[in-house]
Amino acid sequence: MAASNSLDDSLDITLSDPSLDELFMSLVGTPEGRKNPYPIYRQLLEMGPAFKLPMGSIVLTKYDHCRQLLRDNRFGKDTNNPDERRQRAELMGLTQDEIEDAAKFFENRGSLLFLNPPDHTRLRSLISRAFTPRTIEKMREHVVQITQDILKDLENEVDIMEKLAWILPATVISELLGVPQDQRETFRPLVRATTMLLEPVLSRDDFLMAIEAFKQINAMLTDLVNLRRMSPKDDLISLLIAARDGNDSLSEMELISTCQLLYAAGFETTTNLIGNGLYALLTHRSQFELLKSNPELCHPAVEELLRFDSPVQFDARTAMEDADINGQFVPQGTIILTILGAANHDFTHFKNPEDLNIIRDEGPPLSFANGIHYCLGAPLARLEGQVVFQQLVTQYKDIELIDLDPPRRDTIILRGIKELKVNLITR
Ligand code: HEM
Repeated sequence: MAASNSLDDSLDITLSDPSLDELFMSLVGTPEGRKNPYPIYRQLLEMGPAFKLPMGSIVLTKYDHCRQLLRDNRFGKDTNNPDERRQRAELMGLTQDEIEDAAKFFENRGSLLFLNPPDHTRLRSLISRAFTPRTIEKMREHVVQITQDILKDLENEVDIMEKLAWILPATVISELLGVPQDQRETFRPLVRATTMLLEPVLSRDDFLMAIEAFKQINAMLTDLVNLRRMSPKDDLISLLIAARDGNDSLSEMELISTCQLLYAAGFETTTNLIGNGLYALLTHRSQFELLKSNPELCHPAVEELLRFDSPVQFDARTAMEDADINGQFVPQGTIILTILGAANHDFTHFKNPEDLNIIRDEGPPLSFANGIHYCLGAPLARLEGQVVFQQLVTQYKDIELIDLDPPRRDTIILRGIKELKVNLITR
């Protein structure tokens, strides 16, 4: 069953259960649920493998089902769903004009993340060569160097989120793409603002700020593309321009959108891998000590940290055609949510999922999703995680958590810590 490329035909979908709906709302709709979703995931996993929400979407929680759904080509991306737009507009208190204006802006943007084949295949093949594990591995020494340069100035009380977790991935992706380092600070709040668009529930202000930030990033990257077009460099932006201008294999809008996606995906998520991961290690001292005595365990440790508290908790697909699942009619347009965070804690897949075990050997987590949209940056994120944790446990005599309950970002899709104060002890 685990190797199947389509959603299990015998999947039992609970159709109407107010207690499941209530539990789901307590997960996405309350600050407590968003802060600690894991006890709610556990209850959902115990109550059944799949359930339908009153608005018609279906929710999957188990590892095998989420993985199958993400590999099933009957389900894909649909960003042009007027019903969903209307529902979101109502939820956020937006006017029809505001939501249509935003929809128009995103129309034909050509972002890889929201495309289906054949456009997705064409675009992904253009950039995938730059992100293969082998190409990325060549960057290891350089990433170690960047990390050591950052750490050499850090000791005693430090906010890891501010001083390390965002700077490292932002530096690496800026170098790769060719975004000048002095623009990192300008991009940072803008990127963060745009990630709110991923959230299922957001305020009108957050929505309007996100659209504005998206437009600003777009304008800055357009300027940069124009600059590189006049004087190319050895970077990804110049490479994409050559592909665009050489054989017309991507449109100008796709070129900008690809730069924007790579830049944003390149730092917000890995920042949270570093923050969530270090917090997990410091709240499980025996695992921290194990890694400290065996820094070479940083490879399995990163897999486990990704599983234990994933930076991305939810993914989704839309039924591209009518489907039948176990006699259940699933009409075209139905949204299926995969709770990756729950799948990573599925007790039928992982033994004692609530335990952090850096030598766990039970296969990869679903944190990078699966199927054709499997995270393109996974080798880079893994490399950065391995380097950071290895350097942290080797460069310091000890690391102590100062704030046992650090403030978190109040979001459910991207999961991260706002401020992580630790004591970096050098001797
Ligand atoms: C720990 C860090 C990361 C996590 C947890 C993560 C997670 C994910 C997930 C879950 C998806 C799939 C989305 C979907 O199915 O719709 C995805 C896609 C993607 N990620 Fe990552 N990501 C990480 C780091 C990165 C980095 C460093 C980069 C960049 C350079 C990157 C670039 C992308 C791109 C371009 C896609 C779209 C792929 C496609 O649609 O074909 N990610 N990521």
